[in-house]
Amino acid sequence: MTLLDLCAYLGLAATGAAGINLLLGLLISLRYSPVRYWPHRQINLFALHQWTAYATVVLLLSHPAVLLFLDKPHFRLFDILLPIQSPLQPWINVAGAGAMYLLLLVFITSLLRSRIGRPLWRKLHYLVFPAAILLFIHSILTDPDLKDGHPDLLDGGKVFVEILILVCFAAIVIRVRMRGKGLRPASSASAR
Ligand code: HEM
Repeated sequence: MTLLDLCAYLGLAATGAAGINLLLGLLISLRYSPVRYWPHRQINLFALHQWTAYATVVLLLSHPAVLLFLDKPHFRLFDILLPIQSPLQPWINVAGAGAMYLLLLVFITSLLRSRIGRPLWRKLHYLVFPAAILLFIHSILTDPDLKDGHPDLLDGGKVFVEILILVCFAAIVIRVRMRGKGLRPASSASAR
C-alpha cells in the first residue's frame, strides 16, 4: 500500500464515520427508540454519536496530514491549512478544508456545550449540514491517483461515497418531514 492509498483510505473512513455520525444525530433528533423499533435492544445512541464524532475527528485530521509525507506531488503545510495553491484540484481541496474546519468547530463547541449554553450550541450544530455538502463534494470529485483531476465515479471508493450521500439525503428528507413530531413524545425520551 502506498502513502497515497493510505491517504485515500483515511479520507474514505473519515467520510464514512462523518456520515454514520450524521445519521445517528438524526435518529436522536427524531427520538428513535432502538428498544421499541429495530433492533429491539438497549443501545445508547448518544454514546455511539459521541464515539463516532471522536473517530471522525481523528480520521479527518490524519487524512490530510499523510499528504505532507508524499514525495510527488509535494504538499506544504500551507497547502493543507489553506489549500488554495495545493497541487491539482486546489478548490476541491478547499472544500475539504472547509468541511474540516466546520466539523472541528461543531466538535469543539459540543465539548464546551455546558459553558456556551444550549441555544448557541444548537445553532452551531446545524453547521454539520453545510459541512456535509462540502465534504461530499470533496469526496466525490477528488482524483485519488492525483493524476489528471478526473476521478472514476464507478471506482469502489466513489461508489461507497455515492451510496452514503443517497442514504444521508433520504434521512435528512425524513427528518425535515417529521419536524416537530419525532417518533414519540418528548416526555417518554427516557426510554432511550
Ligand atoms: C485540509 C483538508 C483536506 C485536504 C488538503 C484534502 C486533500 C485531499 C486530496 C489531495 C485527495 C486526493 C488524494 C487521495 O485520494 O488521497 C483527497 C481525497 C479524498 N478526501 Fe480529502 N482533503 C482534506 C479534507 C478531507 C475531509 C475533511 C474529508 C472527509 C471527512 C476528506 C475525504 C476525502 C475522500 C473520501 C477522498 C477520496 C478518496 C478516494 O476517492 O479514494 N478529505 N483529499
